[in-house]
Amino acid sequence: MLTQEMEKALNEQVKWELYSAYLYLSMAAYFEDKGLTGFAHWMKAQTAEEFMHAMKFYNFIFERDGRVVLEEIPAPPTDWESPEAVFEYAYKHEQEVSARINKLMSLAKKMEDYATENFLQWFVEEQVEEEASFKAILSKLKLIKGDPQATFYLDNELAQRPLDLNLLMTQA
Ligand SMILES: [Fe+2]
Ligand SMILES: [Fe+2]
Repeated sequence: MLTQEMEKALNEQVKWELYSAYLYLSMAAYFEDKGLTGFAHWMKAQTAEEFMHAMKFYNFIFERDGRVVLEEIPAPPTDWESPEAVFEYAYKHEQEVSARINKLMSLAKKMEDYATENFLQWFVEEQVEEEASFKAILSKLKLIKGDPQATFYLDNELAQRPLDLNLLMTQA
């Protein structure tokens, strides 16, 4: 069973994963508006992943006989100066999420809650990947420096990201 403190902390992370989904959907909408449909597609795939993360926490809380209580999700920003600014923002956001996961891990260790510690290990590794994938695209955008032809080329590349919606329910 979860302690009250841990239950509350895990519920808060459900909120932040949902906020991440909300943020990336807002970024998808930004790209859609700019006609960058490949970038928009990539962000929609990311939205689905974040929802899957939220569901992992959701299911874990129930498995440990806890109670999921959904909190208010803040509105995400809706506008950025450039695609580079979008990825700069997203990359920073992922670093904040990593810090939150680390805090949860510290709490689990402090409470000697080994099951939660084990569960969180997946997220520790996932955050390494998350930061790396945003960083890789950010680096490309920095090289491109707003060049329309190169942006179009990258847009085509990002359109190739697989989007498996079944992942939402089966892996959670
Ligand atoms: Fe996430
Ligand atoms: Fe993420």
